[in-house]
Amino acid sequence: MKKLEEYVKSIPDFPEKGIIFRDVTSVLQDADGLHLAIDTMQEKIKDLDYDVVVGPESRGFIFGTPIAYNNHKPFVLIRKKGKLPRETVSATYDLEYGSATIEMHKDSIKPGQKVLIVDDLIATGGTTEAMIKLIESLGGEVAGVVVLIELAGLKGRERISKYRLESAICYE
Ligand code: PRP
Ligand code: ADE
Repeated sequence: MKKLEEYVKSIPDFPEKGIIFRDVTSVLQDADGLHLAIDTMQEKIKDLDYDVVVGPESRGFIFGTPIAYNNHKPFVLIRKKGKLPRETVSATYDLEYGSATIEMHKDSIKPGQKVLIVDDLIATGGTTEAMIKLIESLGGEVAGVVVLIELAGLKGRERISKYRLESAICYE
């Protein structure tokens, strides 16, 4: 049986020179890799109490939905600007490469609900920090964050140090 990290392919200089892209498609396209990824992420947060799972477009959807489904919780989408049809709250932030604006529906979190954030990867933590702002602006409480991959050198963990962060794989 292969280890989880062996399923991740690392591509130098993508999408820009100097970035090592940690590719999760190589995990997903293997049945054992997909099982191991979801099972490992769930194991990391098995003691956590939460009411709802939130995940960002696009790779956050892939990992967030099965975790919500397996644990019989609702799944809330955070989307890139202009995609959600009803009233939204929004936040703009910088990434390892580029910047983005994300939105969520105003009625997607009820005040006092405990939220688990799921994503494929944390790099600078900009996306996670923006998601936390949106969730808290709606009265939600962030119970924790789980990602498949943490790029520790980019210090996302420090940026969200008030919150519990679990990662299945960590690169320096
Ligand atoms: C990637 C990744 C995380 C985020 C991490 O998403 O899936 O959400 O960047 O970077 P950060 O910690 O520096 O914010 P991206 O915005 O590239 O969208 P995608 O999933 O649609 O490719
Ligand atoms: N998102 C932000 N930085 C990334 C990286 N180095 N590899 C894959 N996805 C990313």
